[in-house]
Amino acid sequence: MKDKKLSLRDRLIVSLDKNKKSDVVNMCRKISGKVSTLKLGLELIYGVGLEVIDTVKSFGYKVMLDAKLFDIPNTVKSAAEAIGGLGVSAVTIHTLGGRQMLEQAREILEKQSESRAKFRPLLFGVTILTSLDDKDLKALGFRGDFMYSVLNLAGVAIDAGTDGIICSPNEVEAIRKKFGTGFYIATPGIRLPEDAAGDQKRINTPEEAMSRGADFLIVGRSITTREDVGGTIDLYLEKIERTLGHA
Ligand code: C5P
Repeated sequence: MKDKKLSLRDRLIVSLDKNKKSDVVNMCRKISGKVSTLKLGLELIYGVGLEVIDTVKSFGYKVMLDAKLFDIPNTVKSAAEAIGGLGVSAVTIHTLGGRQMLEQAREILEKQSESRAKFRPLLFGVTILTSLDDKDLKALGFRGDFMYSVLNLAGVAIDAGTDGIICSPNEVEAIRKKFGTGFYIATPGIRLPEDAAGDQKRINTPEEAMSRGADFLIVGRSITTREDVGGTIDLYLEKIERTLGHA
């Protein structure tokens, strides 16, 4: 659950969507400690291996492992147990795996940190991927619009005791209205007005995400494809600070 005051550096999580170690090292240098946490996902897990976590940590960053766990509860529980030993600060899980899967992951992470007296990675439940829109969900057989599904999935994740939810900036307000503020919300699908959407469909600006109640922005290409990575991070941090100051 939400328990500590976030600094400005905590609020922007930069997503390293690379598959080579040298690119990660370059990006860690370019980011030069301007944010606390970097997100590593499937490309790096399969492209480089889990050793990349230590590489990123050696630069002083915390790691959000975007593992997107999604399997039967027993399998996810074992995977979460292994992840609990990796020294990451957060891990993601698909809420579509259901309540039992989410609960078992959270319980094993908790148990493990108690037995080792160590910090437990925060567990973030991914609702509906920000690359999917109503048409995609309909084709998959979902009932109602994406908001209906996102709210249901967020409810399941919160009941199961996850620490936070991952959703698009466009759903933050409805989630806060229905479920309150006792959990974190992290939003990918963030773009500056001049950015291309790419494969993302439910996008919005940093200002909109923060003013609607997001705690963290997860930003990849809008920062990492820029010539001036450090300057773009400064711009993002200014926007977050300004929005929260006015929220
Ligand atoms: O480049 P961009 O900012 O679109 O990257 C967003 C990152 O957030 C990607 O690493 C993607 O895997 C991740 N993500 C997402 N939608 C979710 C959960 C995670 O885009 N629902």
